[in-house]
Amino acid sequence: MRMRNLPWAEPFLAEQSAVIKDPATYKGKWKKTLERSCLHVEIGTGKGDYWIQMGQQYTDLGWIGIERNKNVAALAMKKFIQQCPDADHMLFINQDAESLSSWFDEAEIDVIHLNFSDPWPKKRAHKKRLSNKKFIQQYAYVLHPEGEIQMKTDNASLFEYSLLEFQKEGWILHDVSVDFRREEHPEDAISEYETRFMNLGQPIYRAVWKKATSTPLINEEHQEKKLPSIDRK
Ligand SMILES: C[S@@+](CC[C@H](N)C(=O)[O-])C[C@H]1O[C@@H](n2cnc3c(N)ncnc32)[C@H](O)[C@@H]1O
Repeated sequence: MRMRNLPWAEPFLAEQSAVIKDPATYKGKWKKTLERSCLHVEIGTGKGDYWIQMGQQYTDLGWIGIERNKNVAALAMKKFIQQCPDADHMLFINQDAESLSSWFDEAEIDVIHLNFSDPWPKKRAHKKRLSNKKFIQQYAYVLHPEGEIQMKTDNASLFEYSLLEFQKEGWILHDVSVDFRREEHPEDAISEYETRFMNLGQPIYRAVWKKATSTPLINEEHQEKKLPSIDRK
């Protein structure tokens, strides 16, 4: 959906101290700046509902929101000022996440959230998807070895594509659901788009990936219960 132009957006964003204008100067310093030892980043916040709710729920963590569209970013910041006037653990970047690895140092981020990312259905536009290998390779650099990507979407083809892209890049699928909201998940906020799709009765797909360097999901305890290998005669 095209967002209408808000003439006040740019000057408004320019005067907000929570909007980081030159994120590269914070590289390696985000946790120190926020005085938090764990850093979560949401890419494509839209109007900020998820970033704000999670920031309110988990004040002991650092929360960075990234949104490239200045109009929606301005609406997110307006909400943020109203709802979190004293938050010192949340910052915002109004730029394209394609420069992610120049803003964050190696292993600096603990969790990256991708909520209802644009599906870019045409094949020639797949490179713009936030689960395209171009982005995944940057996630591999900025994520902590034990860190994770949490993705939610309503879009089955984007979900399939993402499962395959992460697999091709050697990531480990740690959790997957094709109807995440079938059960209550008070630990995870419902984003604006998620509300829309839930109201339409659509299932929410969710996946969590970790880097191949992370601790394997199958530990010794699980291995004991592993099915015997098929004896091929
Ligand atoms: C469909 S909206 C979803 C908004 C929100 N996450 C939600 O679940 O309600 C996707 C948002 O991601 C933003 N976006 C897409 N690609 C981006 C990129 N490369 N960098 C930053 N933001 C991006 C778009 O501008 C848009 O606002």
